Amino acid sequence: MAGRLSGKAALISGGASGLGEAQAMLFAREGASVLIGDLQTDKGDAVVESIKGEGGDAAFVHLDVTAMNSWTAAVGEAVSRFGKLTTLVNNAGIFHPGGIVEETKEGWDRMIAINQTGVFLGMKAASEALLASGNGAIVNISSLFGLMGSPNAISYHASKAAVRLMGKAGALEFAKKGIRVNTIFPGQIKTPILGDISPEQDKAIKAAIPMGDAGEPIDVAYASLYLASDEAKYVSGAEIWVDGAWYAGQ
Ligand SMILES: NC(=O)c1ccc[n+]([C@@H]2O[C@H](COP(=O)([O-])OP(=O)(O)OC[C@H]3O[C@@H](n4cnc5c(N)ncnc54)[C@H](O)[C@@H]3O)[C@@H](O)[C@H]2O)c1
Repeated sequence: MAGRLSGKAALISGGASGLGEAQAMLFAREGASVLIGDLQTDKGDAVVESIKGEGGDAAFVHLDVTAMNSWTAAVGEAVSRFGKLTTLVNNAGIFHPGGIVEETKEGWDRMIAINQTGVFLGMKAASEALLASGNGAIVNISSLFGLMGSPNAISYHASKAAVRLMGKAGALEFAKKGIRVNTIFPGQIKTPILGDISPEQDKAIKAAIPMGDAGEPIDVAYASLYLASDEAKYVSGAEIWVDGAWYAGQ
């Protein structure tokens, strides 16, 4: 039986860990060739080995999402390795806490560079290859914190809210050109990024989640799989929250 992504060639930023790793594994299981782009070479190589161990097709490329030349090289690697690029997942991201009083200019700049500018550069660098594929898909990973506020994460909220509108703008720009752009808003999902959240924050977040606990990376990966597949051929500019019903109460 053909996989749900058979014939696809995907570049997944931040694919060495957490949600990116889960998406890379699932995409490969569903027949996509996967290029993992990340700063973490050892972890990225380990994910590639896991995929190959399951009989999938994957490779790693060192990618710093804040640098256009790094994106250009990663997209070039995907096209030369797979013959095309059909799918981009802008997943790489960081979190650190800090309200308006506490956050520094340096902290703000770093957050915006990775979480916001990184998504713009990814879409920009990949657009030519995605257009050439004739059937491209971009999945951007925002956050529930791109939709709603909290008192202690000013730069994260700003960066993730920007990802939301870049998804809508991209969907309209490419609507007649063969690239779909959709956005996923994870709530709290069990990945290494949670290490940057204080125990108090963690407790407050869990208390706010109607389903009572954080989600698993595979929960986000399945939403991404759908949006990346041709099953979603009429879906663009859409927003899926994967959050244990958290946003339903906002
Ligand atoms: N886990 C959650 O609860 C949650 C909730 C909402 C949104 N998100 C978003 O999901 C995405 C994935 O996060 P995660 O939870 O898997 O965290 P993670 O820390 O496990 O993975 C993030 C990955 O991004 C990579 N990365 C960081 N900076 C990079 C850069 N400059 N260039 C390339 N790669 C870089 C890291 O090396 C890491 O492999 C992020 O955008 C995050 O904001 C996560």
